[in-house]
Amino acid sequence: MAFDLEKYAETSDRVRWEDLDLDLFEEQPLDAETLRSLRYMCDVEYHTSCYLRDLLVTRSHREDEARGFMTTWNREEFWHGEALSAVLNRHGIVVDYDELKAKRIKLGWQLALGPVKQATGSNLVGDDFIAVHMTWGAANELSAVAAYRRLAAMNDHPVLSPLLERIAKQETRHVAFYTTQGRAKLEESTRAQKIVRWVMSKVWRPVGSGIMDDAGIRHVMNHLFTGQGGELDKLDQRVQRFPGLDGITIFRTAFEKMGIVL
Ligand SMILES: [Fe+2]
Ligand SMILES: [Fe+2]
Repeated sequence: MAFDLEKYAETSDRVRWEDLDLDLFEEQPLDAETLRSLRYMCDVEYHTSCYLRDLLVTRSHREDEARGFMTTWNREEFWHGEALSAVLNRHGIVVDYDELKAKRIKLGWQLALGPVKQATGSNLVGDDFIAVHMTWGAANELSAVAAYRRLAAMNDHPVLSPLLERIAKQETRHVAFYTTQGRAKLEESTRAQKIVRWVMSKVWRPVGSGIMDDAGIRHVMNHLFTGQGGELDKLDQRVQRFPGLDGITIFRTAFEKMGIVL
């Protein structure tokens, strides 16, 4: 699955929902569980743009491909936040991006990678950092696709489901980027393979960990993935195809650790 950056940048558009009739939420409102999960997803999407700044000061930004991608990717994620925020708004839930950003700008990628640094006892530098960053990103984007598709299917709602499918479609392109980059970095170095394998099996946690509180994370993962062990195994199989990562089960392990019945 090669990734064409030029084509990606050229064809990238903010997710559109102008053609969807949001007034329908008045007749067919979403249930409280779904709203709670959407709120979580909205926060995570908005948070993405908060940590772009941190990414740009790491070595990854020196890689032209990565830099070009990050700019477009960041814009897409921001609009995912806007789309979900519009849905939440129709249910009286106000998500203020500026407020969220002000609160969380200090956390960022540094925080997300904090456990990695702690665990490895050193700062990851150079190609090893990029290999971790790209593989971690691939796992996060893979779970984003799965989460949006699952929530779309669970609701089968005339407005929510098509909107989530549109977001999921953009997430699949993010998967393609991170996968292409991650695999390339891992192919070059067995040292990177060892580090990434260790980080992904010991440190990786589902998207939102380190940003959201534990109760919120457990709610969303329970809501979306209870009984979905087969789907999580499929995600694990995607990660297992990365050089040096054969046999690892990051999704199944992380969800079982959270006590989710798969
Ligand atoms: Fe997104
Ligand atoms: Fe994404």
